[in-house]
Amino acid sequence: MKMTKKMQSALVMENNIQLFICPICSAEMEIEEHSRLICRTMHSFDLAKSGYVNLAPQAHATKYDKSLFEARTAVMSSGFFEPVLETIISRLDNQFAGSDCPVVLDAGCGEGTHLQAVHSRLRTGSVGIGIDLAKEGIAAASKAYPGIIWSVADLAAMPFADARIDAILNILSPANYAEFNRLLKSGGVLVKVVPESGYLQELRDVFYEGKQQKEEADPVARFSEQFDAVETERVTYTFALPDGLLAPLIRMTPLTWNASEEQVAEVVATGMKEITIDLRVISGVRRSGESG
Ligand SMILES: C[S@@+](CC[C@H](N)C(=O)[O-])C[C@H]1O[C@@H](n2cnc3c(N)ncnc32)[C@H](O)[C@@H]1O
Ligand SMILES: [Zn+2]
Repeated sequence: MKMTKKMQSALVMENNIQLFICPICSAEMEIEEHSRLICRTMHSFDLAKSGYVNLAPQAHATKYDKSLFEARTAVMSSGFFEPVLETIISRLDNQFAGSDCPVVLDAGCGEGTHLQAVHSRLRTGSVGIGIDLAKEGIAAASKAYPGIIWSVADLAAMPFADARIDAILNILSPANYAEFNRLLKSGGVLVKVVPESGYLQELRDVFYEGKQQKEEADPVARFSEQFDAVETERVTYTFALPDGLLAPLIRMTPLTWNASEEQVAEVVATGMKEITIDLRVISGVRRSGESG
């Protein structure tokens, strides 16, 4: 019998069931009939046909829709992010040397391409968990990348037990350091990717006439307050856009959400050939004996 995506996903969840807690009452969970997660007080969460589970207590409307995630997959699968992924993977490989199948959680994983790359390339192998509040992203991830646990969930209140995660990825997504600290094992690692001033500069130039967007408070300083062995590296390069990738690139980024269709069409017509990637990869190790 061919194993369905749902069954495959149910098996990965079952093998790692100790990681889950009920998003409503925090009780331990079990998996029933390869088709739902259920807690001791009978809160029940069905697996979708593609294998993901919705563990967000309420539905959330997000601006990230299906077409945006399709665009993001097209861009992210093109090699666009490769130097950043190499930095992340080599940092995790160093961290995990000698470990046995660490648990890696991507908080705000979108359509899952980055987690899939990390999961499939770590020398130790890994248990992968991708969570995002946007159901469309998680649905796309579970269809494309079976073998990883995909869940709709809020990264500010994740349905997972304390101190069981070896590494959290947080790529171009909001952070919640208290929650990351709660989930990480002592000595676990957080890897965060934030934009630097030149990120997608060519799009910024046309859509914002070069104006800087408001930046978050200094993420490296925030990191150093909470984590040890902080490493930070700015990864900057120019990516030659393959034919047909400019439209999805414009479509995928929040930078252009307020742009009119005409403005987008005009930029596509210019045939922009390359784009600047300018990101910072920050990582740090969870301090022992602190609960958040
Ligand atoms: C710019 S996208 C980055 C997605 C992915 N990490 C990537 O690099 O392609 C930001 C993501 O954060 C997610 N997000 C925002 N707030 C969230 C929250 N509170 N909990 C979970 N995900 C959230 C959004 O749904 C979106 O998928
Ligand atoms: Zn419950």
